Amino acid sequence: MKKRRIGILSGGGDCAGINSAIKWVVYSALDERRCRESGYQYEVIGIREGWKGLTGSPFDASQSTWPLDMATVRTWDRQGGTLLGTSRTNPYSPKDDQSQTVLANIEKLGLDVIVAIGGDDTQSVSYRLSQEGINVVGIPKTIDADLKGTDYTLGYETALNVIVEDIDKLRTTAGSHRRIFVVETMGRHAGWLALEGGEAAGAYIILIPEYDFSVERVNELILEGKKAGDRYEIVVVAEGAKAQGMTEVTKDERIDSFGHKTLGGIGAYLAAEIQQGTGLEARSQVLSYLQRGGAPSAYDRRMGRYFGIAAMDLIMRRRFGRMVSFTNCRFVSVPLKDVFGQLKLVDVASRYDTEKYNGRHRVIT
Ligand code: F6P
Repeated sequence: MKKRRIGILSGGGDCAGINSAIKWVVYSALDERRCRESGYQYEVIGIREGWKGLTGSPFDASQSTWPLDMATVRTWDRQGGTLLGTSRTNPYSPKDDQSQTVLANIEKLGLDVIVAIGGDDTQSVSYRLSQEGINVVGIPKTIDADLKGTDYTLGYETALNVIVEDIDKLRTTAGSHRRIFVVETMGRHAGWLALEGGEAAGAYIILIPEYDFSVERVNELILEGKKAGDRYEIVVVAEGAKAQGMTEVTKDERIDSFGHKTLGGIGAYLAAEIQQGTGLEARSQVLSYLQRGGAPSAYDRRMGRYFGIAAMDLIMRRRFGRMVSFTNCRFVSVPLKDVFGQLKLVDVASRYDTEKYNGRHRVIT
Protein backbone atom coordinates (compact mmCIF):
# COMPACT_ATOMS: atom_id res chain seq x y z
CA MET A 1 0.00 0.00 0.00
CA LYS A 2 1.28 3.50 -0.83
CA LYS A 3 2.43 5.54 2.18
CA ARG A 4 1.73 9.12 3.19
CA ARG A 5 3.37 11.03 6.05
CA ILE A 6 1.45 13.48 8.24
CA GLY A 7 3.23 16.12 10.33
CA ILE A 8 1.36 17.52 13.35
CA LEU A 9 2.24 20.53 15.51
CA SER A 10 0.77 22.84 18.14
CA GLY A 11 1.51 26.55 17.97
CA GLY A 12 0.86 29.57 20.19
CA GLY A 13 -0.39 29.49 23.77
CA ASP A 14 -0.78 26.01 25.20
CA CYS A 15 -4.06 24.80 26.72
CA ALA A 16 -6.09 21.74 27.58
CA GLY A 17 -7.39 19.56 24.74
CA ILE A 18 -4.39 19.81 22.40
CA ASN A 19 -3.05 16.36 23.32
CA SER A 20 -6.48 14.82 22.76
CA ALA A 21 -6.55 16.23 19.23
CA ILE A 22 -3.06 14.87 18.57
CA LYS A 23 -4.05 11.44 19.89
CA TRP A 24 -7.11 11.26 17.64
CA VAL A 25 -5.27 12.37 14.52
CA VAL A 26 -2.89 9.46 15.20
CA TYR A 27 -5.67 6.97 16.02
CA SER A 28 -7.61 7.94 12.88
CA ALA A 29 -4.56 7.92 10.63
CA LEU A 30 -3.54 4.43 11.83
CA ASP A 31 -7.10 3.04 11.73
CA GLU A 32 -6.85 0.03 9.39
CA ARG A 33 -10.37 0.37 8.06
CA ARG A 34 -9.77 4.00 7.10
CA CYS A 35 -6.49 3.08 5.46
CA ARG A 36 -8.20 0.41 3.37
CA GLU A 37 -10.86 2.97 2.38
CA SER A 38 -8.24 5.52 1.30
CA GLY A 39 -5.81 3.06 -0.28
CA TYR A 40 -2.96 4.63 1.65
CA GLN A 41 -0.98 3.73 4.74
CA TYR A 42 -0.30 6.77 6.96
CA GLU A 43 2.38 7.57 9.47
CA VAL A 44 2.28 10.54 11.85
CA ILE A 45 5.30 12.62 12.81
CA GLY A 46 5.00 14.99 15.76
CA ILE A 47 6.78 18.30 15.15
CA ARG A 48 8.15 19.73 18.35
CA GLU A 49 7.75 23.36 19.58
CA GLY A 50 5.27 24.50 16.97
CA TRP A 51 6.54 26.16 13.78
CA LYS A 52 9.95 26.50 15.46
CA GLY A 53 10.38 22.72 15.03
CA LEU A 54 10.58 23.24 11.26
CA THR A 55 13.12 26.08 11.29
CA GLY A 56 16.31 24.16 12.07
CA SER A 57 19.20 24.68 9.65
CA PRO A 58 20.88 22.26 9.42
CA PHE A 59 17.68 20.36 10.17
CA ASP A 60 18.01 17.64 12.81
CA ALA A 61 14.89 15.46 12.65
CA SER A 62 15.95 13.57 15.77
CA GLN A 63 15.69 16.78 17.79
CA SER A 64 12.70 18.38 16.06
CA THR A 65 10.36 15.46 15.46
CA TRP A 66 8.73 12.56 17.34
CA PRO A 67 7.28 9.60 15.41
CA LEU A 68 3.84 8.96 16.97
CA ASP A 69 2.03 5.63 17.13
CA MET A 70 -1.06 4.48 19.02
CA ALA A 71 0.91 3.11 21.96
CA THR A 72 2.74 6.42 22.39
CA VAL A 73 -0.36 8.63 22.42
CA ARG A 74 -2.73 6.22 24.20
CA THR A 75 -3.02 8.34 27.39
CA TRP A 76 -2.57 11.77 25.84
CA ASP A 77 -6.26 12.73 25.76
CA ARG A 78 -6.29 13.15 29.54
CA GLN A 79 -3.13 15.28 29.77
CA GLY A 80 -3.07 19.06 29.78
CA GLY A 81 -0.82 21.36 27.77
CA THR A 82 0.91 19.99 24.66
CA LEU A 83 3.36 17.08 24.86
CA LEU A 84 4.86 18.19 21.54
CA GLY A 85 5.73 21.57 23.03
CA THR A 86 4.82 24.85 21.39
CA SER A 87 6.27 28.26 20.56
CA ARG A 88 5.29 31.63 19.25
CA THR A 89 7.77 31.32 16.37
CA ASN A 90 6.57 33.06 13.22
CA PRO A 91 8.43 31.70 10.14
CA TYR A 92 7.20 34.75 8.24
CA SER A 93 8.38 37.27 10.85
CA PRO A 94 9.41 40.48 9.03
CA LYS A 95 12.44 40.64 11.34
CA ASP A 96 13.58 37.09 10.63
CA ASP A 97 11.83 35.36 7.72
CA GLN A 98 12.62 31.64 7.95
CA SER A 99 9.89 30.51 5.57
CA GLN A 100 12.28 29.14 2.92
CA THR A 101 14.03 27.03 5.58
CA VAL A 102 10.65 25.73 6.74
CA LEU A 103 9.66 24.82 3.18
CA ALA A 104 12.97 23.00 2.69
CA ASN A 105 12.59 21.08 5.96
CA ILE A 106 9.03 20.06 5.08
CA GLU A 107 10.46 18.69 1.84
CA LYS A 108 13.27 16.89 3.72
CA LEU A 109 10.71 15.26 6.03
CA GLY A 110 8.64 14.16 3.04
CA LEU A 111 5.44 15.43 4.62
CA ASP A 112 2.26 14.96 2.59
CA VAL A 113 0.29 17.25 4.90
CA ILE A 114 0.73 19.31 8.08
CA VAL A 115 -1.96 19.40 10.78
CA ALA A 116 -1.57 22.70 12.65
CA ILE A 117 -3.31 23.06 16.02
CA GLY A 118 -3.52 26.74 16.91
CA GLY A 119 -5.25 30.07 16.99
CA ASP A 120 -5.16 33.21 14.89
CA ASP A 121 -1.36 33.46 14.66
CA THR A 122 -0.72 29.76 13.97
CA GLN A 123 -3.41 29.60 11.28
CA SER A 124 -2.05 32.71 9.58
CA VAL A 125 1.17 30.73 9.03
CA SER A 126 -0.87 27.69 7.94
CA TYR A 127 -2.54 29.84 5.29
CA ARG A 128 0.71 31.31 3.97
CA LEU A 129 2.29 27.87 3.72
CA SER A 130 -0.81 26.56 1.91
CA GLN A 131 -0.42 29.46 -0.52
CA GLU A 132 3.09 28.17 -1.20
CA GLY A 133 1.74 24.73 -2.10
CA ILE A 134 1.97 22.97 1.26
CA ASN A 135 -1.03 20.79 2.19
CA VAL A 136 -2.26 22.10 5.55
CA VAL A 137 -5.27 21.31 7.76
CA GLY A 138 -5.94 23.53 10.79
CA ILE A 139 -7.49 22.60 14.15
CA PRO A 140 -8.89 25.58 16.16
CA LYS A 141 -7.26 26.11 19.56
CA THR A 142 -7.11 29.06 21.96
CA ILE A 143 -8.47 29.76 25.41
CA ASP A 144 -9.39 33.23 24.07
CA ALA A 145 -12.20 31.81 21.86
CA ASP A 146 -11.47 34.71 19.47
CA LEU A 147 -10.87 32.66 16.28
CA LYS A 148 -13.28 33.34 13.43
CA GLY A 149 -14.83 30.48 11.46
CA THR A 150 -15.69 28.25 14.40
CA ASP A 151 -18.01 28.34 17.43
CA TYR A 152 -15.48 26.47 19.56
CA THR A 153 -11.72 26.52 20.08
CA LEU A 154 -9.89 23.88 22.13
CA GLY A 155 -9.04 24.90 25.70
CA TYR A 156 -11.85 27.40 26.24
CA GLU A 157 -14.17 25.25 28.36
CA THR A 158 -11.36 24.05 30.66
CA ALA A 159 -10.25 27.68 31.12
CA LEU A 160 -13.84 28.63 32.07
CA ASN A 161 -13.82 25.87 34.68
CA VAL A 162 -10.58 27.27 36.16
CA ILE A 163 -12.12 30.75 36.39
CA VAL A 164 -15.20 29.40 38.18
CA GLU A 165 -13.19 27.22 40.60
CA ASP A 166 -10.77 30.06 41.44
CA ILE A 167 -13.52 32.66 41.94
CA ASP A 168 -15.39 30.20 44.19
CA LYS A 169 -12.21 30.00 46.29
CA LEU A 170 -11.78 33.79 46.37
CA ARG A 171 -15.33 34.25 47.65
CA THR A 172 -14.44 32.73 51.04
CA THR A 173 -11.60 35.16 51.76
CA ALA A 174 -13.53 38.10 50.28
CA GLY A 175 -16.41 37.30 52.63
CA SER A 176 -14.12 36.84 55.65
CA HIS A 177 -12.58 40.27 55.16
CA ARG A 178 -15.50 42.16 53.56
CA ARG A 179 -13.32 42.93 50.55
CA ILE A 180 -13.93 43.73 46.89
CA PHE A 181 -11.97 41.25 44.75
CA VAL A 182 -10.98 42.24 41.22
CA VAL A 183 -10.17 39.09 39.22
CA GLU A 184 -8.16 39.61 36.03
CA THR A 185 -8.68 37.00 33.30
CA MET A 186 -6.80 36.31 30.04
CA GLY A 187 -8.29 36.61 26.55
CA ARG A 188 -6.05 39.26 24.98
CA HIS A 189 -8.36 41.62 23.01
CA ALA A 190 -11.51 39.47 23.37
CA GLY A 191 -13.81 39.43 26.38
CA TRP A 192 -15.18 35.87 26.11
CA LEU A 193 -13.31 34.42 29.10
CA ALA A 194 -14.25 37.38 31.31
CA LEU A 195 -17.87 37.52 30.15
CA GLU A 196 -18.77 33.82 30.20
CA GLY A 197 -16.41 33.00 33.07
CA GLY A 198 -17.89 35.86 35.06
CA GLU A 199 -21.45 34.81 34.19
CA ALA A 200 -20.71 31.21 35.22
CA ALA A 201 -19.09 32.34 38.48
CA GLY A 202 -21.88 34.81 39.28
CA ALA A 203 -19.65 37.88 39.24
CA TYR A 204 -21.23 41.19 40.31
CA ILE A 205 -19.44 43.22 37.63
CA ILE A 206 -17.81 42.01 34.38
CA LEU A 207 -15.57 44.31 32.34
CA ILE A 208 -14.56 43.43 28.77
CA PRO A 209 -12.27 44.93 26.07
CA GLU A 210 -15.25 45.43 23.76
CA TYR A 211 -16.80 48.09 26.02
CA ASP A 212 -14.65 50.70 27.84
CA PHE A 213 -15.79 51.13 31.42
CA SER A 214 -16.20 54.17 33.67
CA VAL A 215 -14.40 53.84 37.01
CA GLU A 216 -17.03 56.11 38.55
CA ARG A 217 -19.80 53.77 37.33
CA VAL A 218 -17.95 50.74 38.77
CA ASN A 219 -17.71 52.48 42.14
CA GLU A 220 -21.38 53.52 41.96
CA LEU A 221 -22.43 49.90 41.37
CA ILE A 222 -20.23 48.69 44.25
CA LEU A 223 -21.70 51.23 46.68
CA GLU A 224 -25.20 50.20 45.55
CA GLY A 225 -24.27 46.60 46.44
CA LYS A 226 -22.96 47.63 49.84
CA LYS A 227 -26.14 49.61 50.50
CA ALA A 228 -28.13 46.49 49.62
CA GLY A 229 -26.18 44.59 52.31
CA ASP A 230 -23.49 42.76 50.29
CA ARG A 231 -20.45 41.82 52.43
CA TYR A 232 -18.16 41.64 49.37
CA GLU A 233 -18.18 41.80 45.58
CA ILE A 234 -16.44 39.91 42.78
CA VAL A 235 -15.41 42.07 39.83
CA VAL A 236 -14.08 40.21 36.76
CA VAL A 237 -11.96 42.25 34.35
CA ALA A 238 -10.46 41.03 31.09
CA GLU A 239 -6.73 41.75 30.69
CA GLY A 240 -7.52 43.77 27.56
CA ALA A 241 -10.31 45.84 29.13
CA LYS A 242 -9.68 49.55 29.68
CA ALA A 243 -11.17 52.54 31.42
CA GLN A 244 -12.74 55.19 29.22
CA GLY A 245 -10.08 57.47 27.74
CA MET A 246 -7.25 55.08 28.66
CA THR A 247 -5.20 52.57 26.68
CA GLU A 248 -4.74 48.86 27.50
CA VAL A 249 -2.52 48.22 30.53
CA THR A 250 0.63 46.24 29.64
CA LYS A 251 3.05 44.34 31.89
CA ASP A 252 6.17 45.42 29.99
CA GLU A 253 7.45 46.57 26.60
CA ARG A 254 7.77 43.05 25.13
CA ILE A 255 6.29 42.50 21.64
CA ASP A 256 6.12 38.90 20.40
CA SER A 257 6.94 37.70 16.85
CA PHE A 258 3.32 38.22 15.79
CA GLY A 259 3.30 41.81 17.08
CA HIS A 260 1.37 41.22 20.30
CA LYS A 261 1.94 43.35 23.41
CA THR A 262 2.08 41.68 26.84
CA LEU A 263 -1.20 42.69 28.47
CA GLY A 264 -1.64 42.70 32.25
CA GLY A 265 -2.18 44.96 35.24
CA ILE A 266 -5.70 46.33 34.75
CA GLY A 267 -6.85 44.34 37.81
CA ALA A 268 -4.43 46.05 40.19
CA TYR A 269 -5.21 49.46 38.68
CA LEU A 270 -8.95 48.96 39.17
CA ALA A 271 -8.60 47.62 42.73
CA ALA A 272 -6.71 50.77 43.69
CA GLU A 273 -9.35 52.98 42.02
CA ILE A 274 -12.15 51.11 43.82
CA GLN A 275 -10.45 51.38 47.20
CA GLN A 276 -9.87 55.11 46.69
CA GLY A 277 -13.31 55.81 45.23
CA THR A 278 -15.46 53.79 47.67
CA GLY A 279 -13.34 53.64 50.84
CA LEU A 280 -13.86 49.84 50.80
CA GLU A 281 -10.93 47.39 50.97
CA ALA A 282 -10.13 46.00 47.54
CA ARG A 283 -7.66 43.39 46.32
CA SER A 284 -6.80 42.01 42.90
CA GLN A 285 -6.02 38.48 41.72
CA VAL A 286 -4.55 37.71 38.29
CA LEU A 287 -5.54 34.18 37.17
CA SER A 288 -3.02 34.34 34.33
CA TYR A 289 -1.57 30.98 33.24
CA LEU A 290 -3.76 28.96 35.58
CA GLN A 291 -6.40 29.38 32.85
CA ARG A 292 -4.20 27.48 30.41
CA GLY A 293 -3.16 24.77 32.86
CA GLY A 294 -4.44 21.52 34.16
CA ALA A 295 -6.06 18.41 32.76
CA PRO A 296 -8.72 18.89 30.05
CA SER A 297 -12.39 18.91 30.94
CA ALA A 298 -14.62 16.19 29.50
CA TYR A 299 -15.77 18.67 26.86
CA ASP A 300 -12.23 19.53 25.74
CA ARG A 301 -11.29 15.83 25.64
CA ARG A 302 -14.29 15.18 23.39
CA MET A 303 -13.73 18.22 21.18
CA GLY A 304 -10.08 17.25 20.80
CA ARG A 305 -11.22 13.80 19.69
CA TYR A 306 -13.78 15.11 17.20
CA PHE A 307 -11.47 17.78 15.78
CA GLY A 308 -8.68 15.20 15.40
CA ILE A 309 -10.96 12.77 13.56
CA ALA A 310 -12.36 15.64 11.44
CA ALA A 311 -8.82 16.62 10.43
CA MET A 312 -8.28 13.08 9.12
CA ASP A 313 -11.64 13.28 7.30
CA LEU A 314 -10.26 16.28 5.39
CA ILE A 315 -6.91 14.57 4.74
CA MET A 316 -8.63 11.42 3.41
CA ARG A 317 -10.70 13.62 1.11
CA ARG A 318 -7.59 15.60 0.08
CA ARG A 319 -9.29 18.84 1.19
CA PHE A 320 -6.42 21.13 2.24
CA GLY A 321 -6.02 24.80 3.04
CA ARG A 322 -8.96 24.47 5.44
CA MET A 323 -9.57 24.39 9.19
CA VAL A 324 -11.96 21.99 10.88
CA SER A 325 -14.76 23.87 12.62
CA PHE A 326 -17.64 23.37 15.05
CA THR A 327 -20.40 25.60 13.72
CA ASN A 328 -24.12 25.53 14.65
CA CYS A 329 -23.51 22.24 16.50
CA ARG A 330 -22.05 20.57 13.40
CA PHE A 331 -18.49 19.59 12.42
CA VAL A 332 -17.59 21.26 9.14
CA SER A 333 -14.52 22.92 7.61
CA VAL A 334 -13.79 26.48 6.55
CA PRO A 335 -11.11 28.00 4.28
CA LEU A 336 -7.99 29.05 6.21
CA LYS A 337 -8.10 32.45 4.52
CA ASP A 338 -11.32 33.21 6.41
CA VAL A 339 -10.14 32.44 9.95
CA PHE A 340 -7.31 34.86 10.70
CA GLY A 341 -6.59 38.57 10.63
CA GLN A 342 -9.82 39.66 12.27
CA LEU A 343 -10.77 38.47 15.80
CA LYS A 344 -14.18 37.14 16.84
CA LEU A 345 -15.19 39.58 19.61
CA VAL A 346 -18.12 39.81 22.01
CA ASP A 347 -21.10 41.51 20.36
CA VAL A 348 -21.98 44.17 22.97
CA ALA A 349 -25.49 44.79 21.62
CA SER A 350 -26.57 41.17 22.03
CA ARG A 351 -24.42 39.96 24.94
CA TYR A 352 -23.49 42.83 27.29
CA ASP A 353 -25.46 45.00 29.74
CA THR A 354 -23.75 48.39 29.45
CA GLU A 355 -25.63 49.80 32.45
CA LYS A 356 -24.94 47.01 34.95
CA TYR A 357 -21.57 46.01 33.43
CA ASN A 358 -22.59 42.34 33.24
CA GLY A 359 -24.04 39.74 30.88
CA ARG A 360 -27.39 40.71 29.31
CA HIS A 361 -30.48 39.84 31.38
CA ARG A 362 -32.34 38.95 28.19
CA VAL A 363 -31.29 35.90 26.14
CA ILE A 364 -34.25 35.25 23.86
CA THR A 365 -34.01 37.97 21.24
O1 F6P B 1 -3.65 33.57 23.42
C1 F6P B 1 -3.73 32.88 24.63
C2 F6P B 1 -3.11 33.71 25.72
O2 F6P B 1 -3.21 33.00 26.91
C3 F6P B 1 -3.74 35.10 25.90
O3 F6P B 1 -4.97 35.04 26.59
C4 F6P B 1 -2.65 35.80 26.66
O4 F6P B 1 -2.73 37.21 26.60
C5 F6P B 1 -1.41 35.28 25.94
O5 F6P B 1 -1.74 33.98 25.45
C6 F6P B 1 -0.18 35.19 26.81
O6 F6P B 1 0.89 34.88 25.94
P1 F6P B 1 2.21 34.14 26.49
O7 F6P B 1 1.84 32.72 26.80
O8 F6P B 1 3.18 34.25 25.34
O9 F6P B 1 2.65 34.91 27.71
